[in-house]
Amino acid sequence: MQKFIAYDKLAREDRFIRMRARRVAEIRMEQGLPPFPDLRDLESLRNRIHGILVGELQAMEGAGRTVFDFADDTPWEFVMDMARQVWDEARHVEIYTKLLEHLGGYLGEYPESTLLWRCACAATPEERVAGVNRGLEGLACDVFAQLIRLAQKLDDPLLERAVDYVLADEITHVRMGSYWLRRLTENAPERLQKALEFQMSIDERFNLGGVRGADARAESEGIPIAQDIRREAGFSEDEIARLVATTQRSPVY
Ligand SMILES: [Fe+2]
Ligand SMILES: [Fe+2]
Repeated sequence: MQKFIAYDKLAREDRFIRMRARRVAEIRMEQGLPPFPDLRDLESLRNRIHGILVGELQAMEGAGRTVFDFADDTPWEFVMDMARQVWDEARHVEIYTKLLEHLGGYLGEYPESTLLWRCACAATPEERVAGVNRGLEGLACDVFAQLIRLAQKLDDPLLERAVDYVLADEITHVRMGSYWLRRLTENAPERLQKALEFQMSIDERFNLGGVRGADARAESEGIPIAQDIRREAGFSEDEIARLVATTQRSPVY
């Protein structure tokens, strides 16, 4: 089997349309919409849920690829953790598919961006856990915490509990990332540094080349850093402080 496959080789039904995240943001802005769904209305909430759903799908595929790509040269426990994550992400895909239907949406209603998969194709296992588990799944913790608060406001206990259930898994995925980032680079500080830099670059990728700057509405729609959850998931105080500073610049926070 081929290693490190391109995103356009991922198996998908015809109803999925893939597009770069930056292009999606540009098209939205051309239509007078904020670059990212800002949760102002039900349509925007559906859009956000769809984005999370395809993220879960790519997270499942990414963890599966990591099992395959690195099974021969990483500890057995690492491979087991990644295999367990495949199982968790598959469940998350099912949960978000049902949540999308609960909100009146359907699979393929919005384009699928390829950001997570591209991070999941990093060349080393430590960069994958840094970029995907700590970078993107850390971001997912912030997004899910915000969704839970929104569900409470909307008085939608199904949405609230379902997202809370997935969040509990995501915290374990970020913790796994924190643990394996250290373990895999125990005697290789330069590899640790490289992986941490890759993780930091994820925040920059979410700036999408500054496209958000043209839309003032997006500036006011923040996704706060879920600091307690981040701490629980193994982020240091320095990392949390850096993330809080990044929120001043990133459209997704
Ligand atoms: Fe997930
Ligand atoms: Fe996850």
